Amino acid sequence: MKKVLVATEKPFAPQAVSEIKDVLDHAGYELVMLEKYSELSDLLKAVSDVDAVIIRSDKFTAEVLDAAKNLKIVVRAGAGYDNIDLKAAAGKGIVAMNTPGQNSNAVAELALGMMIYNARNAFNGTAGSELKGKSLGIHAFGNVGRLVAKIARGFGMKLYAFDPFVSADAIKKEGVEPLNSVEELYSKSQYLSLHIPVNDKTRYSIGYELLSKMPEGATLVNTARKEVIDEQGLLKTFESRPDFSYLSDIAPDCKEDVARDFPGSYFFTPKKMGAQTAEANINAGRAAAMQIVAYFEEGDKTFKVN
Ligand code: 3PG
Repeated sequence: MKKVLVATEKPFAPQAVSEIKDVLDHAGYELVMLEKYSELSDLLKAVSDVDAVIIRSDKFTAEVLDAAKNLKIVVRAGAGYDNIDLKAAAGKGIVAMNTPGQNSNAVAELALGMMIYNARNAFNGTAGSELKGKSLGIHAFGNVGRLVAKIARGFGMKLYAFDPFVSADAIKKEGVEPLNSVEELYSKSQYLSLHIPVNDKTRYSIGYELLSKMPEGATLVNTARKEVIDEQGLLKTFESRPDFSYLSDIAPDCKEDVARDFPGSYFFTPKKMGAQTAEANINAGRAAAMQIVAYFEEGDKTFKVN
C-alpha cells in the first residue's frame, strides 16, 4: 500500500484534508498527517518511509530528501516551488510537481483586499481614497496576474502589464495594456502588483531604481515572494518618498525598521496568507493528491517541474 504524507507547517483547512483523504482512499493509498510541526526532526522522521509527500511552503531541502528513503514524488500544493531543492530531487530520481492555478484566486483576492485596506487607512475612520481611476501595473501576467486584472477591472482601475513570456495579444484580450519594459510599467503604475516567481534572475530585482519611477501615491503590493525585493532599495524608497506604501503577504526582513520609521505606510501579513482560504486549500490539496495517484497509476508527469 502506497503511503502519502501531508507535511504542512501551516495546515490546510479541514475540508481540504478530508478531500485529500477521499482521493487517496479511493486509490487504496494510506494518508499520514504531519501538521503544525515546528522541529525539522519531526519532518525528517515523518518522510522516512513514505512514497509521496504533499507540502505547501515547507522547505524540502537536500537533507529532507536524503531522509526520505522511499520517496518517489513530492507535490507542492501551490504555485511557487522555490522551497524544493529541485536538483537534489532530480539527482535521486524524485519527481517534483506543483499545482499551478489551483490557489490563484485566493492570492488575487488578497492583493486587492490589501489595496483597499491601505487605501482606506486600515479602516481607522479617516478619509481614504478609492481604487477607481487609479493605474495598476501587473508585473507578470500568469494565473494570479490575470485574476488580479479581472477583479481590478471591476473596480474601474486602469490596467497595465509587463510579461516577456506572454504575448501582447493575450494581455490585450484581458482588457489590459501590455507594456514593453519593466521600467515603463513602474513609471505608469500608482499601484504595482507583483507576480513574478523567485529565481536567480528575479531575486532582489525590485529596488530603488524601479520603485522611484512610480507616480505620486505609489503602492507596491507583493503577494509573490519577499526575496524578489531588494530591501536596501525598499528602505531608500521609504526614506525618499513619504507617499510610498508597501503591502506584502509576509513581512520583509527589515520589518522592524519599516514599522519604527514609516508607520501607516505598510501592511504585512504575519504568515503567508495569500492561499490561506478553504477553497484554495481544497483545490490545491485535491489536485496534489490526484496528481500523485495519476503519477503512480499512469506515469502522468504533466506538472513535473524538475
Ligand atoms: C504559492 O506559491 O502557491 C503560494 O505562495 C501559497 O503558499 P502556501 O501554500 O504556503 O500558502
